[in-house]
Amino acid sequence: MGRFNRESFIIQDKDVLRDDYQPETLEERDEELDEYAAALRPVIQGWQPNNVFLYGVTGVGKTAATHDLLEELQESAGEYDDVDLNVIELNCTGCTTSYQVAVNLVNEIRSPSHPLTTVSSSREPMSETGYQQKRIFNELYNDLESIGGTILVVLDEIDNIGSDDDILYELPRARSQLDLDVKIGVVGISNDFKFRENLSPKVKDTLCEEEILFPPYDATELQNILKHRADIALYDDVLESDVIPLCAAFSAQDSGSARQALRLLRKAADIAENDAMAGGEAKITEDHVREAEHQIQRQQVVEGMHSLTRQGQYVLLTVCQLAAEGETPERTKLIYERYREVLRNHGSEPLKRRRVHDHLSDLSLHGILRLVDSSSGRGNYNEYELDVSLSSALDALESELGELNDIRETAKRHRVLE
Ligand SMILES: Nc1ncnc2c1ncn2[C@@H]1O[C@H](COP(=O)(O)OP(=O)(O)OP(=O)(O)O)[C@@H](O)[C@H]1O
Ligand SMILES: [Mg+2]
Repeated sequence: MGRFNRESFIIQDKDVLRDDYQPETLEERDEELDEYAAALRPVIQGWQPNNVFLYGVTGVGKTAATHDLLEELQESAGEYDDVDLNVIELNCTGCTTSYQVAVNLVNEIRSPSHPLTTVSSSREPMSETGYQQKRIFNELYNDLESIGGTILVVLDEIDNIGSDDDILYELPRARSQLDLDVKIGVVGISNDFKFRENLSPKVKDTLCEEEILFPPYDATELQNILKHRADIALYDDVLESDVIPLCAAFSAQDSGSARQALRLLRKAADIAENDAMAGGEAKITEDHVREAEHQIQRQQVVEGMHSLTRQGQYVLLTVCQLAAEGETPERTKLIYERYREVLRNHGSEPLKRRRVHDHLSDLSLHGILRLVDSSSGRGNYNEYELDVSLSSALDALESELGELNDIRETAKRHRVLE
């Protein structure tokens, strides 16, 4: 048989497990969807829409719910002659200012066709630089007015604009301030809780008219979500009974993200498919899930490592040594002392303490280490531990630093690794 053929034993439709797959129904979100729908209902009455701020950690269905509901809302709006609903959706990734958001909105409106934009204008797109903010806002208002009717402006991942949040203040007020003949509602979506806290008070008042929180999923909810996807994505009877509970448990412990749970199931299915191709049984087992989790974590370390300098790798190596001895979480002060020893053994010059602290905090930003806040009678101090498994961290480090068998041995002696 050739290398490429259409035979598959496990996966019936892999697209269904992908992140961009739009499920028919969102499981476990009835309450939030009701709340969200209630906030959008004035649109159908022909009234001024509410502004809505939707927030919750990553992977909990904010974007998926928005797509679902807006589709439904547009369908319903289509049934009423006196409702002229237009939706403009922008993903604000890459927009760091209100100015950029405004330019992108203008260009979204002026682009000839975009599936999520129900409007288009014959005006020319604008360049991203070189105008006064006021000019861009005016262009945007002109465009919005010429579209007319009710306009929902959906700004996904709006936290990218940080504290430069003028647009969130200006857009909702445009109708009353400028006497525009158009009803504008803004839906802001964010997974950054700090962004919400740091919104300027005037923005909070307008944008957060209706606030909807999407909480993380618990293990039972994740199981349901996974089951529904697996039913369509996989052949019958390929799942051993503990696979979905295990995927759900891994992700519930960590983030409560459906995206993470789906990624784990997809990876486990891939590994099982390869095994089946090689003559193994057509089953996804608990071992496949554990292997998938290991590979995903390893990948995470490898990706994080691209941005690490050699010194950053030594800092990670130091934490791995401590972990192998069962000594983590460990205080930064003691990590630094051990780091100096590690560097001496490698014949390199150690960095100053401050720089090593920077590396530790970088590593935790990449999800490789975790900062543990500890307080004791002697005061507060920071401790770090690995946020990935020791074996994934060692695998990734070995590809840069050469074999690390002594640490593996130590870990086995301390029963940290099998
Ligand atoms: N309740 C659910 N039922 C079925 N699938 C879901 C559910 N919630 C999330 N998903 C799926 O999980 C993935 C992530 O969801 P989504 O993109 O909506 O997350 P998000 O909250 O927008 O995350 P981010 O903040 O990272 O943008 C998608 O593939 C989505 O289809
Ligand atoms: Mg999203």
